[in-house]
Amino acid sequence: MKTTATLIVNGKSYELPIIEATDGNDAINISGLRRETGFITYDPGFRNTGGCMSAISYMDGEDGILRYRGIPIEQLAERSSFIETAYLLINGELPTSDELNRFSVLLNDHSLVHEDMRHFFERFPRGAHPMGMLASMVNTLRAFYPEIPERSEEDEINKTFARLLSKLRTLAAMSYRISMGLPVVYPSYFLSYCANFLNMMFDSTVRPYVIDDDMVNALNLFWILHADHEQNCSTSAVRLVGSARVNLYAAISAGISALWGPLHGGANQAVIEMLQAIHDSGGDTAPFIARAKDRNDPFRLMGFGHSIYKNYDPRGRIMKDMCHKLLARRNRNDPLLDIAKKLEEIALSDSYFTDNRLYPNVDFYSGIMLRNLGIPLDMFTVMFAIGRLPGWISQWKESREYIGAKLHRPRQVYRGYGERDYIPIHLRTANVREILKGKPITVKSPVFQSEDGSTAAVT
Ligand code: CMC
Repeated sequence: MKTTATLIVNGKSYELPIIEATDGNDAINISGLRRETGFITYDPGFRNTGGCMSAISYMDGEDGILRYRGIPIEQLAERSSFIETAYLLINGELPTSDELNRFSVLLNDHSLVHEDMRHFFERFPRGAHPMGMLASMVNTLRAFYPEIPERSEEDEINKTFARLLSKLRTLAAMSYRISMGLPVVYPSYFLSYCANFLNMMFDSTVRPYVIDDDMVNALNLFWILHADHEQNCSTSAVRLVGSARVNLYAAISAGISALWGPLHGGANQAVIEMLQAIHDSGGDTAPFIARAKDRNDPFRLMGFGHSIYKNYDPRGRIMKDMCHKLLARRNRNDPLLDIAKKLEEIALSDSYFTDNRLYPNVDFYSGIMLRNLGIPLDMFTVMFAIGRLPGWISQWKESREYIGAKLHRPRQVYRGYGERDYIPIHLRTANVREILKGKPITVKSPVFQSEDGSTAAVT
């Protein structure tokens, strides 16, 4: 096995060290490249760049593999709980039953949020998107609760993680209740993490919410499947913002904002909107497929394709299966599920999708499951955020503990103007701009005409 790679630049060769991965792609270490060669690398979207070394999750996009701390997602989906999976991600090992009990107690003890935070919620305008509210409220948590000091005991750190895990769920349910003008339901000591969430969302004094185990299990699975996903957009945002040594709440708030985008977590909402549009237009998928294939149309088949998976997203497969089970158990039919299956079948036999290796991702079926749990559409991405929180926390923790961690500061390939002179405002006409476009100003004191027709020399 080679331990270095040779790079030849302008006839001179350089040996670059190779970092061996335990699984997946090894890396060429270019951290000394600019110093030694004067060159940087160009990698838009960082698709070929390892920004960190991580031991948290592993994915193989070719074979559709995802593992948390080495354990295949299929095993966790079948046998674990969201809380146990969160513990595994954050601490690196599955908990013993004592550890899991202590963790549950901690989550329970920290599930309430400061009453004053309710007033913040009440000031958001009706119709505010819950993702924006959630990002703001998580940042606000720092004003109410301490951050983790530089040198802190493990107990203090664990308390802060539990606080965030537990309160995010409470805040999410609160945001829904307040946006609907409903009284807030507090977390209950007697309910599990997932059951508590459903109860906080839907319980009412006039119609008590009946906990349904199938719904609780489906939610549990939904959150396990979303718990971590390597260096995706929002996780990278958490690491990047965290690299400035901001507090945990601010870093997680950045992750929530990134997740909101329709190309990332916002896709679960966009999928349902697309399926509903197909349904409302009579169920014909052809115009939607045609638009997705048209390179001049920004429309994309939502819930299809992935930056890493060039195969069926393993989470998508489990989600699809769970959707079927949930609907069958509840004896329900969902016309959007039928449309989704038809769309999948058509897309997977169309060369545009197969050639580009576009398969259903986790979001293709997750929205159908959420709507069958009674979750309103604009809360879908919030549901993703609650699920992704253990991943964000563990990635933040890992980057904080990394010896020699650096402030994230990518470079750029500058392609703008060369040096040019400042033009006084009364001389800035469109004409002058045109003359100067792309040209460095090397000619001194040219004569320009201003908007009012007067001329002046620029000095
Ligand atoms: N519909 C139509 N065309 C697509 C789609 C799609 N859903 N996805 C990719 N393509 C095209 C893409 O435009 C590119 O075409 P061209 O070569 O002409 O530029 C080609 O297929 C190859 O795309 P890619 O490089 O494999 O994909 P990418 O890395 O640029 O984008 C993506 C990944 C997820 C942003 C994209 O697939 C997409 O926009 N999907 C729809 C949104 C979605 O479902 N997002 C959720 C992702 S999974 C949840 C998460 O982890 O965040």
